[in-house]
Amino acid sequence: MLNRSNLSISILNRYYCKVSSSSTGTISNLSCWGKKALVTGGSRGIGKAIAQRLAASGANVTILSKDPILNKEVVSSLPIVHINGDLNTLENNGLNRDQPTNRHSGLVFDLSVPLTGGSYDEMSQALKQQNNDHLLEFDILVHAAGITQNDLFFRSKSNDVRTILQVNLQTPIDLTRLLLKPMIKKQWGRVIFLGSVVADQGNRGQSIYSASKAGLVGFSKSLSREVGHFNITSNVISPGYIDTDMSAPYIASQGETLIERIPLKRIGNVEEIAKAALFLVESNYITGQVIRVDGGLW
Ligand SMILES: NC(=O)c1ccc[n+]([C@@H]2O[C@H](COP(=O)([O-])OP(=O)(O)OC[C@H]3O[C@@H](n4cnc5c(N)ncnc54)[C@H](OP(=O)(O)O)[C@@H]3O)[C@@H](O)[C@H]2O)c1
Repeated sequence: MLNRSNLSISILNRYYCKVSSSSTGTISNLSCWGKKALVTGGSRGIGKAIAQRLAASGANVTILSKDPILNKEVVSSLPIVHINGDLNTLENNGLNRDQPTNRHSGLVFDLSVPLTGGSYDEMSQALKQQNNDHLLEFDILVHAAGITQNDLFFRSKSNDVRTILQVNLQTPIDLTRLLLKPMIKKQWGRVIFLGSVVADQGNRGQSIYSASKAGLVGFSKSLSREVGHFNITSNVISPGYIDTDMSAPYIASQGETLIERIPLKRIGNVEEIAKAALFLVESNYITGQVIRVDGGLW
């Protein structure tokens, strides 16, 4: 785990996947071919599922997360696809290895560190080096990194409040600022934020978390109005209760009471959020929206 003192964006951890026969899955639609995607929080849960889906659709994916070992492991597991389709099938039919495949990479950074001064420069530098062309160019930016809160407001500590707001709200805003100009230049971009249904419903013990997610909605809607004419869309996916490391303790503590509030009578899975993310990437005429993927939760 990185902290301020040893904050070295791990250029050391810069690695690329090799084409390997372990790549799996039938690739039917390479709608993201040639696009560069940065997925924060791509090492686990929802972000990981989104990274996998984008990679399977042909994108070159960079996963940004905190734990270096997990980051490396997940980058190596991302689907590698060939312009002409599924690698496995092509290998069986004599894959021409000179043909291009997509490439993935990892970036280790602690997003609770404010992106100002030194860390801003370090982040810019590391992101530039992720791109062979040394530009801060990403076509698709998915902000999935997040931390939750399980504490009544009157018990909350100001440091914890700051960290939640930093990771969930301030850093996504700063990172968007860092990466927006090249999208404007290219006249194409997709920005996706992971919000939460608690942003509009509120939840006991999650006042700061809710505030951070509601902040993303205001930011994304305003951004969509500023950059729409550059062919850049900005949307929020607002998940209900999805089975991940983050939500597991809460879901377990709520039991059947929670399921009763979900018309579809089950907890969601990460794949269901990833489908919504790919849908937004592929959509040319949806912006400034909050897409709830929550099984109808009330
Ligand atoms: N799960 C749900 O039910 C649910 C519901 C509504 C909204 N959401 C939102 O969806 C997003 C993903 O949630 P999840 O359930 O998939 O969470 P998760 O399983 O806990 O994964 C969190 C991800 O964020 C990364 N991360 C956390 N703090 C970081 C930091 N300081 N610096 C860099 N990376 C950091 C983690 O990286 P490491 O692996 O390196 O720790 C991990 O990749 C979050 O924004 C969450 O608020 C989730």
